[in-house]
Amino acid sequence: MRGKDIFSVKQSNSIQPILINGQDRPESVLRIKGKATLSGYVPISGAKNSTLAIMAATLLCSGTSRVRNVPAIVDVQKMIDILRAVGVKITSDHNALDIDAKDLSESHVPYELVNQMRASFFVIGPLLARLGVARVPLPGGCAIGTRPVDLHVKGLQALGADVIIDQGIVQAYARQSRLQGAKIYLDYPSVGATETLMMAATLAVGETVIENCAQEPEVIDLANFCISMGAKIYGAGTKTIIIEGVDQLHSCEFGIIPDRIEAATFMVAAAITRSTISISPVIPDHLTAAIAKLEEIGAKVILESDRCIRVEGQPRYHHTHIETLPYPGFPTDMQAQFMALLTLSEGNSTVKETVFENRLQHVAELCRMGANIMLQGNIAVVTGVSSLCGAPVMATDLRASAALVLAGLAAEGETQMQGLHHLDRGYDQLEAKLRNLGATLYRQPLGSE
Ligand code: EPZ
Repeated sequence: MRGKDIFSVKQSNSIQPILINGQDRPESVLRIKGKATLSGYVPISGAKNSTLAIMAATLLCSGTSRVRNVPAIVDVQKMIDILRAVGVKITSDHNALDIDAKDLSESHVPYELVNQMRASFFVIGPLLARLGVARVPLPGGCAIGTRPVDLHVKGLQALGADVIIDQGIVQAYARQSRLQGAKIYLDYPSVGATETLMMAATLAVGETVIENCAQEPEVIDLANFCISMGAKIYGAGTKTIIIEGVDQLHSCEFGIIPDRIEAATFMVAAAITRSTISISPVIPDHLTAAIAKLEEIGAKVILESDRCIRVEGQPRYHHTHIETLPYPGFPTDMQAQFMALLTLSEGNSTVKETVFENRLQHVAELCRMGANIMLQGNIAVVTGVSSLCGAPVMATDLRASAALVLAGLAAEGETQMQGLHHLDRGYDQLEAKLRNLGATLYRQPLGSE
């Protein structure tokens, strides 16, 4: 076993380590019993997309950061491996990580760690800002798109770095001893590019202004973490972020926001199974688009408190039109889950994916379960059917896997889902949480069915 794995997931009563010497658990199949009725309350974990960026940002500080409310997911373990590879010491205590970047020494990140997770590229900004050099392999594409990093590179060049891409490695060198503040306009409000450049600018000389930024809650959470370390950042959450560089950053303790995508996934679970469940902690403002679409089709969404939402599923739903957009638009990370719900809503709905060019692969699997969906380029026309039927399906990416679990819970009969490594990447104990709500689903090693 390489490196002591930090997190173990409690599923039913057995403890199962997430990673065994870098390999995911042996492939297994998830058996999902249909016609589920859910009830009760479900706890939401810390936000994956906040945690990964904040873990990268700990490299900016030459002390120890304590990060609390960290989700127990495979992507976190992969980021731990990456930080360790550049000389960082990490210990965990329940769902908190103590990350000591005092001895950060290595500016090169191994390819075999980066190609497993795109978010690993986020370390390029902090490494460059702290060491003046960073050598990070291109993350490459993934199931949902080619995922270029041209906006990251262009911004780092504007901050005074020479950047060459050679043999698949992005090599960045600060022309002077430190990066220099600059005015940067992003051609697209990319989450990753906004985060990379905001982090790099925290230790630059002078002021940086980033225009046309991403406004996602995870960008704000990252900014707040950096501010806790002593960074001077203004305007996170708006289209313009201003950073005044400082000489160094200090240790801090920080709690990650709740995962709005996990929360919205459970909101759809309530709606698609016509059940009533309470979901918390949540930050309702982060869920505005999901709440609006659920109410539009006829589900009931009640704010039980400023940290808790109750969804009451209904017997019938209307059709609607969804177009994914950067925040505060409808999140692409909820597109697949809502499509599953719309397969059981009356009439013709449309779902237009505008953020990623290849994020409709779940359509074929939902059709395998009896859904009626026509694809026209990046638009899916979903004609509601009265019921879905259980079937063997293959998850193709993280959010597609969640959508197929939800469809399986609503379908007649049993669904057998493979490709579970996608699910483990980003959902903290999804099956255990669904079982606690009354669902029946369990894993079996492949071939033992
Ligand atoms: C973040 O990815 C999230 N990942 C994604 O969540 C999320 O879907 C996405 O933002 C959009 O909200 C993490 O935070 C770890 P982008 P990121 O840069 O930063 C293009 C999930 O399911 N682009 O905003 O990679 C890009 O190809 C994951 O949890 C460029 O062209 O997203 C895409 O089409 C999936 N050049 C679009 O912008 C660049 O340099 C949005 O990408 C950068 C991006």
